[in-house]
Amino acid sequence: MKAVYIHIPFCTNICSYCDFCKVYYDEQLVDRYLTWLAKEIDLNYKNELIETIYIGGGTPTSLTIDQLKELFIIINKFNLTNNIEFTIECNPENTTIEKLTMFKNNRVNRLSIGVQTFNEKYLRLLNRNHNNKQVIELINDARDLGFNNINVDLIYGIPNQTFDELKEDIDQLLSLNVPHISTYSFILEEHTKLYIDKYENIDPELEYRMYEYIRNTFKKRQYVHYEISNFAKENYESKHNLNYWHNNHYYGFGLGAHGYIDNIRYENTRSINKYCNGQFLYKMDVLSLEDKMEYETILGLRKIKGVNKKTFKQKYKKDIYDVFDIVPLIDRHDIIDDNEYIYIPIEKLYISNDILINFIK
Ligand SMILES: C[S@@+](CC[C@H](N)C(=O)[O-])C[C@H]1O[C@@H](n2cnc3c(N)ncnc32)[C@H](O)[C@@H]1O
Ligand code: SF4
Repeated sequence: MKAVYIHIPFCTNICSYCDFCKVYYDEQLVDRYLTWLAKEIDLNYKNELIETIYIGGGTPTSLTIDQLKELFIIINKFNLTNNIEFTIECNPENTTIEKLTMFKNNRVNRLSIGVQTFNEKYLRLLNRNHNNKQVIELINDARDLGFNNINVDLIYGIPNQTFDELKEDIDQLLSLNVPHISTYSFILEEHTKLYIDKYENIDPELEYRMYEYIRNTFKKRQYVHYEISNFAKENYESKHNLNYWHNNHYYGFGLGAHGYIDNIRYENTRSINKYCNGQFLYKMDVLSLEDKMEYETILGLRKIKGVNKKTFKQKYKKDIYDVFDIVPLIDRHDIIDDNEYIYIPIEKLYISNDILINFIK
């Protein structure tokens, strides 16, 4: 069984913080792109059974109805299991009822909605192209059509954001009562408008307080914190994303997409011209056993449960303690061993990157 990620890199509006792989929407360019996407899939897909599929962006919902129809014709080439988890990212300003109906008719059963903030001042600062009314309408329309597996993305620690403003965002988010929430701490990426305009990160201590507040508040509302940035009601964890963190295989198709198939991790080009000329690949790494164990541990420790020691041994025929120098990390309480799993303690998740560095050879 495998997972498939498909990247749709078009946006009608460029957000001031975004360094993802995207270009401005252009009708003809999208048509050309879809032709090449189909070719890339034809060339590489080996007809395995697919368990999860995720269409991300960019803004997949920026495509017209006809273009989405074309996209679903391409997706119909995949051999999907009966209980597929099929997610599509939706932006509130352009996800119409017609598009939602089309998603429903094409087996999409999970929506991921980019909200980022409910505060109008910060929506403007982030150059988001939607308002709160559109978010509420989208969620209501989706529920009316039978979508109950809905994720909302929120960013916290936006430049100048105060603790009270974050609390208001969390209150609004919780009032939507969606079963899955991803909360990302704001990253001031180079080459973005906010970086060029010399905005600054908020104080790290305030950011830490925000993270703690988010964790505790969601816990009280029965959301399970299952990965550094992800919270879900019982049985609503993202299977697709868990597949990444379990270090399992997946195809990545489209501009800038990443994939992991057999022993190879690969990355597609971020140049739309190269992609629409059939030069899909940017680079590929053939992984050694050491590389695989490193990925397994670094990705696995992003999960709150951590890395299962027995599974590690079964997969790599080695004891994780013989591969990594874990004892000093346990002495410092950076890692906990509960006999079954090793994991980062919840109060240290905030500095997880500093801990994960110890597993890179
Ligand atoms: C691949 S992006 C695209 C999602 C979709 N196009 C949208 O705009 O909602 C996925 C998520 O990454 C998060 N993200 C993107 N840039 C970020 C940044 N600079 N700092 C923190 N989170 C970011 C946002 O929450 C966003 O929804
Ligand atoms: S955040 Fe989403 S909508 Fe905004 S530019 Fe990035 S990919 Fe496009």
